[in-house]
Amino acid sequence: IPVEDFDLVIFGATGDLARRKIVPGLYRRFVAGQMPASAQIIGAARTRQDESAFRADMRGAIAEFVGRDEDEAQLDAFLATLRYVPIDARGTDGWPELSAHMRPGVVHAFYFSVAPSLFGDIAERLASHGIADADSRIVVEKPFGRDLVTARALNATLAQHFAENQIYRIDHYLGKETVQNLMAVRFANILFEPLWNAQYVDHVQITVAETVGVGGRGEYYDHSGAIRDMVQNHMMQLLCLIAMEPPYHFDPDAVRDEKLKVIRALEPLDADDIVRGQYQDGPDGPGYLQDVENPLSRTESFVALKAHIANWRWTGTPFYLRTGKRLRARTSEIVITFREPPHSIFDDGGTPKANQMVIKLQPNEGMNMTVMIKEPGPGGMRLVQVPLDMSFADALGSNGTDMPDAYERLIMDVIRGNQTLFMRGDELEAAWAWTDPIIAAWDAGTRLPEPYDPGSSGPEEALRLLHRDNRRWREIRA
Ligand code: BG6
Repeated sequence: IPVEDFDLVIFGATGDLARRKIVPGLYRRFVAGQMPASAQIIGAARTRQDESAFRADMRGAIAEFVGRDEDEAQLDAFLATLRYVPIDARGTDGWPELSAHMRPGVVHAFYFSVAPSLFGDIAERLASHGIADADSRIVVEKPFGRDLVTARALNATLAQHFAENQIYRIDHYLGKETVQNLMAVRFANILFEPLWNAQYVDHVQITVAETVGVGGRGEYYDHSGAIRDMVQNHMMQLLCLIAMEPPYHFDPDAVRDEKLKVIRALEPLDADDIVRGQYQDGPDGPGYLQDVENPLSRTESFVALKAHIANWRWTGTPFYLRTGKRLRARTSEIVITFREPPHSIFDDGGTPKANQMVIKLQPNEGMNMTVMIKEPGPGGMRLVQVPLDMSFADALGSNGTDMPDAYERLIMDVIRGNQTLFMRGDELEAAWAWTDPIIAAWDAGTRLPEPYDPGSSGPEEALRLLHRDNRRWREIRA
């Protein structure tokens, strides 16, 4: 079903995100018949170029990030929806031209794909030139601040010109099909929810492992580190979706209220419950310090931590989180380990092992559960653990393999005016309020991150974080 007609302005249209994600994503939705041919995508950036140069550049972006064998007629039709306006975000140039492009009576959305230091200038000019009104939507991206103070300041800046229901803060993890699937699995089945608490769940592991390093974005990354780059946002969102109470309805504020309660219930982190790491050089490339060109950097490219949610449902069930660059495989998964059965009736057959449920977010999305069964054969009652394995691609046929990219989904949600998968200001601030002291404690010290080999599963100390609790991480594998 096509969405309503719209004018989408992309500030920072010549930047990496626009080329890599936003425009290719819109193109895919166009091909899928979801974007009306009358819609306009208006690129706005500093570069002085005309519309045809912008279209040529975006043709290249689509060839690079979507594919080279695209239907030419369709590609031309899509490119015909593109406009371009050279604009000075801090001055006056370009604003009247932008205003002239906007059509009355269609959805107006403004994607701020620019440095956060420009948010205020752009918001102010959109208002003063009468380009944005009370129905317009703005889209902003991480990094949304680098701590609570800066995030609050950004929220306050945007709030001068836009109401909360106009602001779409993207966390692209929420746009991933399998992340949304967490809610479907939990709240559309009776099987799991009764066991989804500290009485039955021993612990939860959330792993987001990457094989890439930080080369190419060292400047940004070295000022950020894994906690700011991944934990405060993406991993926090995963944690919330796993831990939250059932919302009364799948509606933006109902869902976000429940996520916020989880973040607020997080206990301050104990200094012993976190391990930071930095990748060393290896056969495939230089180490972290060389990648960021900062030999003295104490920034972490890996972090593992143990979090506690202090509420009725979760007290007693630790949540172990880990994420890092240059690890053995690219994989994101959530592992729920249930408690062992309280009593075994099988004297000789061995003790039943705890059931485990693995939700694989990427790649090869699927679910896997371990159950105990009887080993076949006449040898008496012997227990054996077997997997109940399900790949979504296999189970759903082509629908399972043809998953839309996170950005496609999220941009269409902006046009539809649905904020469910976007972060609310208070949620984001609460997440910073939890990570700030963790970062401050580290900054106040002199300890160096633990070295780890590229291609490994992170530093030894991260393994010990679980060993000392008599637990172990699930192996990182693709
Ligand atoms: C981004 C981080 O937000 O998420 C990157 O800045 C990280 O450092 C990326 O690589 C991971 O996203 P995905 O979709 O590849 O898992």
